[in-house]
Amino acid sequence: MNIESIKLINFRNYNSLNISLNKETNVFIGKNAQGKTNLLESIYMCATGRSFRTNRDKEIINLNKNQAYVGAKIKVDKAEKFIEIKMERNKQKRIRVNKIELKNFKELYSGLNVVVFSPDDLKLIKDGPGERRSFLDMSISQIKPVYKHNINRYNKILFQRNNLLKSNKKKSDILNLLEIFDLQLAKIGTEIIISRNVFIEELSKIAEEIHKKLTLEKEKLTLNYISNVNFMEQNKDIIEKDFLTKLKLNTKKDLFLGTTEIGPHRDDIEIKTNNIDARTFASQGQQRTIVLSIKLSEVEIIKLDRGNYPVILLDDVFSELDEERRKYLTMSFNGKQTIITSTDVIDLVDMEGKNKSIFYIENGNILQ
Ligand SMILES: Nc1ncnc2c1ncn2[C@@H]1O[C@H](COP(=O)(O)OP(=O)(O)O)[C@@H](O)[C@H]1O
Ligand SMILES: [Mg+2]
Repeated sequence: MNIESIKLINFRNYNSLNISLNKETNVFIGKNAQGKTNLLESIYMCATGRSFRTNRDKEIINLNKNQAYVGAKIKVDKAEKFIEIKMERNKQKRIRVNKIELKNFKELYSGLNVVVFSPDDLKLIKDGPGERRSFLDMSISQIKPVYKHNINRYNKILFQRNNLLKSNKKKSDILNLLEIFDLQLAKIGTEIIISRNVFIEELSKIAEEIHKKLTLEKEKLTLNYISNVNFMEQNKDIIEKDFLTKLKLNTKKDLFLGTTEIGPHRDDIEIKTNNIDARTFASQGQQRTIVLSIKLSEVEIIKLDRGNYPVILLDDVFSELDEERRKYLTMSFNGKQTIITSTDVIDLVDMEGKNKSIFYIENGNILQ
């Protein structure tokens, strides 16, 4: 899978851009605040329908304009796809694939897959469980379109259930309505739990192998899925039953707190190296390597599930890595389309012998 060309109009600091990409390595060099991350953001949007930096599409439209556009021509096996997104102030964004407008955003996920590597990935370890849940959601959505749909439905029901818990309706009315919400929450929540469990099991296996190589066999990385619903049986009916039972047992407390405590919206991933919690005990350098192992595994999972390697986006990550890790990364991207940003040409030393194009970014303009 590779991107053949990108077109931007009024996308952040780009007025108008039209570039063809190299099938293998693409390096974008520019000083700070010139538009390097903006370009990766536009590519990410074509893959997922959303930004990795903001939930507010209007931030993406150039400050002086009312509309923004991104178009990407991609090639998957022998087929060509043309993905286009149009954003307008105060309107829903519109997405077209091969000129046909998508009614349902989940269709987009079958087009282009990407994995982003960014210095912000460290948050995956350092920050709270919310960061790890959104990693799960973004990653699984790319390989399993229906997952995204389930998350949206789950969040809607959860929102309604929480409003009901806080409402001043009659107690018996609340309890009657809760019964309906609980059934729906447990049903969709169970689908989410099963998808997450399958994904983390697969991720953990691959990440353990990669991490072993990256640490010269010194560290054993283990990732475990944590949920307050019991998923060990791996049977839909049993999980759903446990979910419902726990919701019922917790009703009094939920009513007191005005929020729902049971369910996958409280999930987490436990990350351990040599059986020690990486969040509290790993050094910054170790944490960086763990994140690399996890991201490189995501690349492999996409290949396993979709049959093609994703396009790799690297946002300014080389400068933070030592030589060995840089070499490992560059080597593992052989044969995959890679789009790299950097502030320094020095990062190119690792890319000798690669089929590459180099671009220079200045103030939303690109020179090749
Ligand atoms: N909606 C927008 N309209 C115009 N300029 C924007 C918009 N959003 C961000 N920018 C500009 O884009 C630049 C940052 O681009 P970015 O890609 O993050 O830089 P970097 O090259 O450091 O990765 C800043 O100058 C910022 O002001
Ligand atoms: Mg940047």
